[in-house]
Amino acid sequence: MRVFQIEGDWGMANLRLAERPQPEPGPGEVLVRMKASSLNYRDLVVPDRGYGRYTGTLPLIPVSDGVGEVAAVGPDVRRVGPGDRVCPTYFQNWICGEPDLERLTGSLGGPIDGTMAEYMCLPEDGVVKAPAHLTDLEAATLPCAALTAWSALVTRSNTRPGDRVLVQGCGGVALFAVAFAKVLGAHVTVITSSDERVARVKAMGADATINYRAVPEWAKATQAITGGQGYDLILELGGEKTLPQSLRCVRPGGTLAMIGVLSGSTMTTPLGLIVTRQVRLQGVTVGNRDGFEAMLRAIEQHRIKPVVDRVFAFGELKEALAYLKSGAQFGKICIAH
Ligand SMILES: NC(=O)c1ccc[n+]([C@@H]2O[C@H](COP(=O)([O-])OP(=O)(O)OC[C@H]3O[C@@H](n4cnc5c(N)ncnc54)[C@H](OP(=O)(O)O)[C@@H]3O)[C@@H](O)[C@H]2O)c1
Repeated sequence: MRVFQIEGDWGMANLRLAERPQPEPGPGEVLVRMKASSLNYRDLVVPDRGYGRYTGTLPLIPVSDGVGEVAAVGPDVRRVGPGDRVCPTYFQNWICGEPDLERLTGSLGGPIDGTMAEYMCLPEDGVVKAPAHLTDLEAATLPCAALTAWSALVTRSNTRPGDRVLVQGCGGVALFAVAFAKVLGAHVTVITSSDERVARVKAMGADATINYRAVPEWAKATQAITGGQGYDLILELGGEKTLPQSLRCVRPGGTLAMIGVLSGSTMTTPLGLIVTRQVRLQGVTVGNRDGFEAMLRAIEQHRIKPVVDRVFAFGELKEALAYLKSGAQFGKICIAH
């Protein structure tokens, strides 16, 4: 079968098309014929040096997210059957409960082989059924970006109607956060880089927007939006450069969901405001399968449609990654298999 793999040594130059034998499902396993993948920021990082402490071994098939159809099942499989459309879970070993080191090590696309393959063989516990109203490309966007937004708003925060939420940018996680926050009845502010994006995210339901290029001191500008009260929840996607401003506009006792490091990963902010405003810093790493299935019920109930920005062919993975790196996308970048 056709795969993309990082082979020989780490480095984007060593990401190549290759052939591997088609896997056979053993007991408790499902064979999934992959239909689509989608990209996340981490897919840019993995080819160069693996991801975090658990880099995995080479050759490695990259990309964590995708969707496919169950082609065959091994003995004793009960959760899914041939013909079902399924998404692999991002953390293959984290089904429910609190995170622990073992549960956080088994992520697809590094260290475990990912979705850029014609077929994947996975434990039946490592897949969930995809919502019927979504296309393959849309369903492929759910495992990492959507679940991260859901975990920040629901699993780790208990967002309620009327809560004030701030979201940074119009990337994958951000636009899922806008859609979920609206369904939860929250008031959503989005900061983004252009007036064109302001218009698009308003059309999606954002209640307030700030162009952070035109208004670099965006935290100050939010005072008029929150009546000086501050945000209950801020999805921190920028990291180093955005955190100091987020600390100035979160409400006392509010939460910063620490998700991304788009502007750098070093903590350079004065810590005083965290203490005096009693701010909760809540790290978020995707989520577990229970959270995934709860999110899918919400997506089905509210007919939520992921925003797909652009679609590339299977052989165009490197072009798709270059486009991801440019930051020009509004929503998700997908790969049709
Ligand atoms: N912890 C987790 O579980 C988890 C899961 C998924 C992603 N992440 C992280 O979250 C971040 C976003 O991921 P993603 O997949 O949504 O990325 P993405 O789709 O590549 O989002 C990129 C967008 O973010 C905005 N942006 C870029 N630099 C920014 C900055 N300095 N300040 C504010 N906004 C900025 C831009 O939108 P505008 O032009 O509209 O501003 C850009 O189009 C990444 O750091 C990623 O590694 C973490």
